[in-house]
Amino acid sequence: MTGAHTTAMADFKGVHFAAFCDVKKAKAAALAEKFGAAAYSDLAKMFAQADLDAVWINLPPFAHGEAEMAAVAAKVPFFIEKPINKDLKQATQIAAAVHKAGLMTCVGYMNRYQKSVLAARTALQADPGIYANGGWIGGPPYNPDPNSITGWWVQKDKSGGQFVEQVTHTIDLARFLLGDAEAVSAFAARGFVRGIPKYSIDDALAVSVKFKSGAVANFCASCSSGARGGVFLDIYALQTAVKLSGWGHDAEIYRVGKKTPKKVASLPNAFAVEDAAFLTAVRTGNPAGIQTNYADAVKTCELTLAATLSAESGGKTIRLKY
Ligand SMILES: NC(=O)c1ccc[n+]([C@@H]2O[C@H](COP(=O)([O-])OP(=O)(O)OC[C@H]3O[C@@H](n4cnc5c(N)ncnc54)[C@H](O)[C@@H]3O)[C@@H](O)[C@H]2O)c1
Repeated sequence: MTGAHTTAMADFKGVHFAAFCDVKKAKAAALAEKFGAAAYSDLAKMFAQADLDAVWINLPPFAHGEAEMAAVAAKVPFFIEKPINKDLKQATQIAAAVHKAGLMTCVGYMNRYQKSVLAARTALQADPGIYANGGWIGGPPYNPDPNSITGWWVQKDKSGGQFVEQVTHTIDLARFLLGDAEAVSAFAARGFVRGIPKYSIDDALAVSVKFKSGAVANFCASCSSGARGGVFLDIYALQTAVKLSGWGHDAEIYRVGKKTPKKVASLPNAFAVEDAAFLTAVRTGNPAGIQTNYADAVKTCELTLAATLSAESGGKTIRLKY
């Protein structure tokens, strides 16, 4: 994701990449050379030496904590990739520290910046969603390269599982379009996918959610479908139906009495839009253009982790705190 964000911002005026930090210093050094920046493997050293106005935290779900707290201590506003954590307790501690420091944050739920999603939101603000159905269905991540993303992705104690790492996008959008949730229960399928080293995630998850508005939803994760898959979120209201589909979340917005849906295509590079929104907020000190911050993302984190916990308990309903 550091590659995606640096590419997205490479042509931005007034942006200079000052430093890169990675536990694998060679990875930081490669980016540092490309952008004329400094390379670090020691976070504290980077925050002490580099003159940073903002920082992007693009870490795997299991590697959080130190970077966020270092940014808070140095009072450097941070952008953080989703999911913000796989440990809710640590996420709430970071949220408290961010709040205490009054630090600006932005979380990488880039779909909130899509014109298609914003059009769907406007339609649902006038006619609230009652039922939603969404998720991510893909094939098993067979990849023998231990250095690829699949190295940590397939390990539940590292990624949190597909629902926490990937369907977090859908849950975040559902919260954006329906409001906050209050309870969740889930069941998991396991044992079908075989032959992937260290694979410990669920093959599929079926999740039911009750929202505070009274709306209900079914969400799914599956990484066991090699033949056909997709990314989707459908929301149904009395007079409106919204269909968001594909990785970019193209929208079709249906209305009672209208023969054809309003179609809104997604932007090709939403990363650039969210990065620009965060940079504008940092420059002006006004967070209005940021669609979701750390405190808000704690709620998405809680819901996805609660779904996983519910599945582990055999479907027990979990009431959400945040
Ligand atoms: N917004 C999106 O659409 C999107 C897409 C892909 C990934 N992501 C998210 O971005 C984050 C990073 O994913 P990625 O694909 O860039 O992962 P990656 O494995 O490709 O890169 C992670 C980097 O973090 C480094 N790292 C730093 N500290 C570490 C530590 N303590 N332990 C292990 N590694 C450490 C690794 O060396 C590596 O260079 C994840 O949270 C992922 O969910 C978001």
